[in-house]
Amino acid sequence: MKTLQHLFLGELADILDAEHRLVKALPKMAKAATCTHLQNALLDHLEETEGHVKKLELVFEAFGHKARGKTCQATVGLLAEAAEIAEEYAGSSAINAALIAAAQKVEHYEIASYGCLLEWAERLGNKKAADLLQEILNEEKSANNALTELAQTRSNDEALDVGDSEAAADAAAKKTDVLKAIHQAID
Ligand SMILES: [Fe+2]
Repeated sequence: MKTLQHLFLGELADILDAEHRLVKALPKMAKAATCTHLQNALLDHLEETEGHVKKLELVFEAFGHKARGKTCQATVGLLAEAAEIAEEYAGSSAINAALIAAAQKVEHYEIASYGCLLEWAERLGNKKAADLLQEILNEEKSANNALTELAQTRSNDEALDVGDSEAAADAAAKKTDVLKAIHQAID
């Protein structure tokens, strides 16, 4: 019979795969952004994401298992959509708003996953794992809040500022590089 622990370890493998994919995708998304505040937010979260991979390995260890990943189809799909929207808006002043939307979809998926994993780790009585998952969950929530703040202030303002021809020209010049980078990110 499948137990809660089976479910927990399966979902842990799913989110570990998601984090590995994000480690590859976040630098490319930062490169595609033309707003320096958004670039910084994405790169800050890259550092945290690398930390999440290490913490997840410790969570596996806390359950006496070796870390393993299992293809996270949701993240594959969300990153494919991120690439699609980034390609569509490359060279446009709405690129930053598009990237924020894509990044927030990923964050919301992660917040849902870590919320469940935390709850299950507590039910399974593994305090060490629960503490680690709580730390990751807190960072995912902060990253999401930082993106919300950017969406409400700078990036969407820039997206709406169609008169910002300098930024648009700069973005257009980066377009070829960006498209290559985005395709590499989802390969
Ligand atoms: Fe993460």
